[in-house]
This record gives sequence, C-alpha cells and structure tokens, in this order.
Amino acid sequence: MIALEIPADFDGWRNQAKQLWFAHRPPEQVSWGEASLFGDDIGEPTGQALEIRVPAAFAKLAETVFLHSDAGRLDLLYRLFWRLQSNRQLLEDATDVDVVQAGLLVKSVRRDIHKMRAFVRFKEMADDDGESHYVAWFEPDHNIVRANAGFFVRRFASMRWSILTPRLCIHWDGKTVHESPGIVKPADLHDDPAEDLWRSYYASIFNPARLKTKAMLKEMPQRYWKNMPEAQLIPELIAGAQAREAAMIAIGSAPDEASPADWPQLAEAINRCTRCPLYCNAAQAVHGEGPFDARLMIIGEQPGDNEDLAGRPFVGPAGQVLNEGLAQAGIDRKTAYLTNAVKHFKHERRGKVRLHQAPNAGEVDHCRWWLDAERKLVKPKLVLALGATAVRGLTGRTGSISKMRGQPIELPDGSQMIVTTHPSYILRVGDEQREKAMADFVADLKMVAGLLKQLGNPKP
Ligand code: URA
Repeated sequence: MIALEIPADFDGWRNQAKQLWFAHRPPEQVSWGEASLFGDDIGEPTGQALEIRVPAAFAKLAETVFLHSDAGRLDLLYRLFWRLQSNRQLLEDATDVDVVQAGLLVKSVRRDIHKMRAFVRFKEMADDDGESHYVAWFEPDHNIVRANAGFFVRRFASMRWSILTPRLCIHWDGKTVHESPGIVKPADLHDDPAEDLWRSYYASIFNPARLKTKAMLKEMPQRYWKNMPEAQLIPELIAGAQAREAAMIAIGSAPDEASPADWPQLAEAINRCTRCPLYCNAAQAVHGEGPFDARLMIIGEQPGDNEDLAGRPFVGPAGQVLNEGLAQAGIDRKTAYLTNAVKHFKHERRGKVRLHQAPNAGEVDHCRWWLDAERKLVKPKLVLALGATAVRGLTGRTGSISKMRGQPIELPDGSQMIVTTHPSYILRVGDEQREKAMADFVADLKMVAGLLKQLGNPKP
C-alpha cells in the first residue's frame, strides 16, 4: 500500500495521480490521508507507453470533490481517474457507485460555497492605524475558503476585510489576498451595540403568521445561526410564534404597527443595516424622507451615485426628471414621502466611475423589511411605484410595467399602488422616444394628482 499525504492543492493531487498512473499503481494499492506519517514514494514509471485520457468533465468534478472534507475523497477520485482510462463514458453512468458518490460530494461542496456567500456577516473593526477593517467568522464544512476568496474580493473590492475560519483565514488589503492558518473563534466578534439594535429590529418585524419553520431551516440551517446576530433570536421567536399569532388575530393587527415616534430608531436601524452585502460598497444607507403624514409615498429602485454620497433620495439626474414630472402634474414634491425599494447603492467600479447595477430579487426582498416598516409608519393612501424594482419591493412579485400602469391596484394594506416607469428610463431612451416616454410618465403622475384630489384634505 502506498500511503500519501493529502496535497495542499488540487494541482498537487493531479500530479500525484498522473505519476501513480505512470508507475501503474492501481487504486487498491493507494491511499491518501491527513497525517504526516504518510508520504510514501509513488515509485518509478514503468516505462510502458501509457497515455492519460480523461474527459474535461472529470477535471471540473475532481476540482470540486477535492474541496470536500471527506477523508476518502482522494481515493475515490483516483479510483474514478483509473477507471476512466478504460471507460471514457464512466461519468455518464448514473448508477455507478463511485459516480453517485462523487456527485453527492460535489453537491455538498457547492451548498457549502453558497452558504458561505450568503451567511458571512462582517463586523467593522479598526486597524492599528484607525482604518476600518471588516472581520467575519464562518465555519465551513469543507475546504472551500480559498475557492470562495474571488467572490468576496469582487463583492467587497473597496474594503479591507478578513474572513476567519477554523480551516483557513483569508485577508484582503484592497490589492492582494493573503492567507493564514485557521484559528479558533475570537471571543468578541459578534458582540456590539449595532448588533443589539439589529436584533431588536429583527424581532419587531418577525411575523409569526408567515412563519414556515421547515423552509426557514432549509434555507438557513441552524448551525450558521450562531454567527448571525439576528438568528440568535430565532428559537425564542419560533417558540413564541403561535401565541403571538393568536394574539395578532385577536387584536386584528400586526404587532409591529409603527408610529412616527418610531422613526429615529427605524432610520438608525436602516443606517446600520448589514442584512445583505450591498452595505459594504455603498457610502451609506439612504432611507426615505418627507412628511410622516404624507398621503403619497413615491418609491424608486435604489439610491444612485449622487444619492449615495448625499444620503438623500432622488437628488441626482433621475431626481430632476422626477421633479419635472411632478411639477407638470401639479404635485408638490414636499408633500410626498420619497424612498427606495433598496437602501444601498449597488454598483460596479470601473476606474473612478461607479456604474449602477440593478439589485437582484434577493436583495430587493431582503430590503422589503425596511420598506414595509416605512409604509407602516407613514401609512400612505397612494404609493407610486417607479419601475419594476419598486413593484417587487411593494408586492414581492415581479410584473410588467406596461401591463400594470394606467389604473390603481389595491394592495393588501388597503393603499392604492400606481405603477409607472422609472425616471432613469426616460434618461436612457433614445432622443426620438424621450418625448413620448416623458408624456406617458406625466400622464401617470396626473392620475396620481387626480386620486390625491379625490382623497380630499390631508390626513387629520
Ligand atoms: N434612482 C432611484 O431609484 N432612487 C434614487 O433615489 C435615485 C435614483
């Protein structure tokens, strides 16, 4: 038996597998293990003319299986590699035990990669020089940390961060990724006032009537909870959910009914939001502004470059188009509450320019908590959705603007939603279409003005 130490990277294993093949070592005679006692010689090439034949799909599969923590994974890979030399179609055999086993390992590694992307929570800390350094703790099941580094570098390119894990730690200084050995969890990582604030907000928006424990556990497995501040409340919330649901039915209203007095706390919680990774690249969160008794709430997509810097909604070019439309329709912007479906500016940096990127459905859905809270607080009678992201933020669904515009749509809270295009669409279309796009936009705003008139005097 040849006992080999597990190589540090996939290329190392691939080279060993090739040498073993040239030395004509069958899988039954080879085994890889973690201990340093291992490290036998592979042996000399037999001198036979042995060609290596593996389909491209094997290389991809093997790279992923290599990341699994299962002690037998490299033995399995070598067995597959060996068998592929005489059967190139082997991977297509869905009943083969080795193929099935490799497929299961791939699935588990992919899931772990996904979970790391979804559940890493950074905490802002200060370096010795006083600069911000974001630190996260994560406990992966497999050796996926290095393979996932590229994702975090792309996402958080402009921050300095470290992801600490028991397997391997990675650090980004804005230019280069560094690695250091895995560590035990530092004691003070998830223990600060911002997290307390988030936890109390999470508790207040946790809706027992919508609780689907099974689905939640599937999406957010319990073992990740300990590193997610909000998740520490879940057991308690689930336990109290039935009683609170009954109470909700009894009093006929949601327990998180808000009033303007809650505004400072809500604004503060939005400012500190780290619910999705968008906060990392934005200068700040942009919450809504306007009178708390506004009858009209205007909802955009997300702050743009100007809004991100100013910390106020609709102050850039799209805001100017909106102002122009409102003026033409006879609506005073100051009487409306303006906000966005997503509170952080999502963008891609190209040199000095920050290019807008549309938020994806998951990001919009995450941010619905804040929009819902703003709606509960302002209780507008009319909500004007500027574009598809605003519609999703309001309804949780994606719909076609052209089909929805033209008539008010009643939302479950009794308010009327009017759908129109986003003003940035008017900036984007070609010159020949702009006039019509603006006229259609103003027509929608005039409908809003008409509905406001029907509502009569402002709310008492
Ligand atoms: N676009 C939006 O959707 N919202 C803003 O605040 C600015 C531009």
